[in-house]
Amino acid sequence: MTGGYGIAARGRYRVGKVMKLEWSRELGASRGGLFGYCHMSKRHFRDDPYWVTSTNTKYLFRQIHDSSSNQPFRMMPFDISKCARPNILALEPYRCARDDYKDDGTNILLDANENAYGPGLALSSDGKLVNGANKSDISIDLLGLNRYPDPHQHELKQLLCDFRNTHAHTNKDLSPEHLFVGVGSDEAIDALLRAFCTPGKDKVLTCPPTYGMYAVSAQVNDVEVVKATLDVNNNFSIQADKINVRLSADPQIKLIYLCSPGNPTASLVQKEDVQKILEHPSWNGIVVLDEAYIDFAPDGTSLAEWVLEWPNLVVMQTMSKAFGLAGIRLGAVFASEEVARVLNNMKAPYNIPNPTSQLAVQALQPHNLQVMRENRAKIIEQRDRMLKAMPKVPGIGCFLGGRASNFLLVEMLDKPNGRPSNEVALQVYERLAETRGVVVRFRGKEPGCLGCLRVTVGTKDEVTRFLQEIKSVLADVYAGKGKVNGVNGKIEDRKEVEANGIIA
Ligand SMILES: Cc1ncc(COP(=O)(O)O)c(C=O)c1O
Repeated sequence: MTGGYGIAARGRYRVGKVMKLEWSRELGASRGGLFGYCHMSKRHFRDDPYWVTSTNTKYLFRQIHDSSSNQPFRMMPFDISKCARPNILALEPYRCARDDYKDDGTNILLDANENAYGPGLALSSDGKLVNGANKSDISIDLLGLNRYPDPHQHELKQLLCDFRNTHAHTNKDLSPEHLFVGVGSDEAIDALLRAFCTPGKDKVLTCPPTYGMYAVSAQVNDVEVVKATLDVNNNFSIQADKINVRLSADPQIKLIYLCSPGNPTASLVQKEDVQKILEHPSWNGIVVLDEAYIDFAPDGTSLAEWVLEWPNLVVMQTMSKAFGLAGIRLGAVFASEEVARVLNNMKAPYNIPNPTSQLAVQALQPHNLQVMRENRAKIIEQRDRMLKAMPKVPGIGCFLGGRASNFLLVEMLDKPNGRPSNEVALQVYERLAETRGVVVRFRGKEPGCLGCLRVTVGTKDEVTRFLQEIKSVLADVYAGKGKVNGVNGKIEDRKEVEANGIIA
C-alpha cells in the first residue's frame, strides 16, 4: 500500500496515473467525507466485510471517477464494453435532419421531406382546431391519459383499410387483421428485421441509393446488408433479375427493402418488377415495399391491397409525409394475416400513444382527408414550378430519378452547362444552410447521385426564397467567393461524407 487517505473537502483525487476516487458516504459515518487516494490493495481493506470478498482492486471503491471524463460512475464489475452487444457498441451515432438545423422558425427546412403545408387536418390559420359549422371534430381526450392506450387500434386500422381498399390491384378487401401499426414506419422497419432475421446469421437486401434507416436498423439487429444497386442508367429502377440471382445464391437473405417512390430518387418501383421477385421459385423471404411517399404519386399506385394476393409481400406506409403528421409518429404495415400476426405478437403492448391514434383517426375522416388532398395538390403545384424554374438557374443540371414524391433530386454543375460536381453541391448545400437559412440535403455520395442535392418541395413562399437563394449562391460559388476546386481535398472529402451521412 502506498499513498494514503485523509480528510478532505468533497473533491476528486488522482490515484496512480489513471483514476480519481472518493469514498462513498455509504461506507459509514466514520468514513463519510473521507476521501482516499492510494495504490489499491485488498490488504488494506481485508477486515472490512464489504470488501473482503474482492480479489480485484476494482471492487474496492464504491465510487470512482474516470480522470479523463470526470464522469462519476459506480465501481463495480460492470463493464459496458464487455456487456453490451458488440454490434451495438460499434454503432456510430447517426445524424438526423433536426440535429443539424433546428425547426426554430429561422430556417426554411427543405431537407427532411416533411409536408410543407402542414398537417392534413382542418385547422385555423393560427393552428387552432376549427369548430363550428365546419367542425374538425378533433378533441383529444386528455382526461383519459391516465389509462394505457388501446393495444389493438382496431378503429384506426379499419380506417386505414378503408382508405387503401381501392380495388385497383385486387377484388379482395383489407381488414384490420392485415395491419400492424407502429411508432412511425421506422418501428416497422425494425420490427420486420427482428421478426425475420436471426442476428449474426440472416441478411437483408437493400437497393441503394435508398433510405438510410434500413441499414441502420440492420446493424442494430446484427443483420448483414447485401446491396443490389438501383439501375443508375435507367431512372433508378430496380434490377429484379439481378436481385433474383442474388436470392438464389444466398438463402440467408430474408428481407428485401424496396422503396417506392424511392428516397432519394422519387422513382416508382414497377409492379412487374416486384412481381418478378415475389415469384422467385426458391427464395423464402419477404419483399418489403416502403410506400412512405405514395400519396404524392398518382392515385391507385399503392400496392397495399396487393398483400392480399401475395403472402410474401409487405407494404409499409406512414402518416409523416402526405398526411403532414410526422410529429405524431404513426406508421403502418399492410401484410398477410399471418405476417401481421407475427408483428403484432412481438410488439410492445401499448406502442401507439393515445393522442397519436386519436389524431390519426381524425386525419382519416373525410373532411380532413380533403385537407390532406388540398395540401398535396399545392405541393404538386410547387413541385411543377420547381421543375420548370430550376433548369433556368445557371449551374443547375438535370433532375435525376422520378417526380412521384414531394422532393426532387437535382445535379449541381462545376460551371454553367458543365458537369455534375460534389464540390459545388457541397458548397451550395453549406452556403444555403449557413448563410441563407435554407436547408436541403446533400446526396452526392450515393450511387448514381454525383453532384446531387435532394430538395423537399416547400410552400409557395419557400420555393420563391429557395429559387432566389440557390441562384445567388451558385453565382457566388462560380465567382470564386467559394472554394470550388477544393483547396483541401481531405477536408472536402470528410465534409462530403458527413453531409451525405444524415440518415433520416
Ligand atoms: C422512405 C422512407 N421510409 C420511411 C421513413 C420514416 O418514416 P416515419 O416518419 O414513418 O418513421 C422515411 C422518412 O423520411 C422515408 O423517407
